[in-house]
This record gives sequence, structure tokens and C-alpha cells, in this order.
Amino acid sequence: MEAILDGVDDQVTAMATMAALVHHAFGHLWTGFYRVVEPGQLLRVGPYQGSLGCLDIAFGRGVCGSAAAESKTLIVPDVEKYPGHITCDARSRSEIVVPVFGQQGDLIGVLDVDSDRLNAFDVEDARGLEQLVSWFAQ
Ligand code: SME
Repeated sequence: MEAILDGVDDQVTAMATMAALVHHAFGHLWTGFYRVVEPGQLLRVGPYQGSLGCLDIAFGRGVCGSAAAESKTLIVPDVEKYPGHITCDARSRSEIVVPVFGQQGDLIGVLDVDSDRLNAFDVEDARGLEQLVSWFAQ
């Protein structure tokens, strides 16, 4: 990823590249970004790979909105046990959402990976994805 994005200074290009790399490397259902379009209020879908994603998610709603509101990584081993989970694809069973910070330390979005397997993500995934999106803060 670092080699591909070397010299690139474009968030959309980076989001699209990361979504493609992570999606095809791991083969989960959905991999992509929700961008902060109204700070503290609203996320809107950005570059992604997979089936149709929800377009807008309010801060505090679902896993993505909660990760954004709390600015922290959330791992959900079983989405059916997560109150308020937003079902965009009925096959989704578990997910991880990682906050994305910009150069000012401001929240610019979240990276969401959804799997059709239960308990597909652990702290190693969290660390790896957090490291990946640290590109946006550089
Ligand atoms: N999994 C998310 C919704 C987004 S989509 O499924 C692509 C959530 O509950 O936050």
C-alpha cells in the first residue's frame, strides 16, 4: 500500500486503493469508507468494494456511527447481538470499524469491514487496519 500510494496526496485515491487492497486480500463481504460530511453529525459512504452500502449514517447509529462518535475501533463478533446494527447486507455476521484521522488529528471518516463469518476480526486486525489508515494522518 505504501509503495502504491507513494507520492499520492489525494484522500479519495487513497481510500479507493485501500478498499480494493483489503477487500481482495481478505475476501470479506464489504470493505470501505464512510466519510465525515458533517462533523459530529453525519457520515456518508465513500470508496468501497462489495455489495451496495447504505449512503448516510448518523453519528451514534450502528457500528460505523458509534465508532465515529467515540473515535475508537469497534470489533463486533456477532452483529445480531449489537443493538442498532445497520443491516445493509443480510449476509453480514461480524464487523470491524476503525476511525480515520486526518493530518490535524480530526476525524475524517471510518473504515468498515463486514464479514459473512461470525467472529472474523480480532485485535490483530484492529492494529493492522489502524496502521493502514494512519496514512491519512501523515
Ligand atoms: N455495518 C455498518 C453499516 C454499513 S454497511 O453494512 C456497509 C454498521 O452497522 O455500522
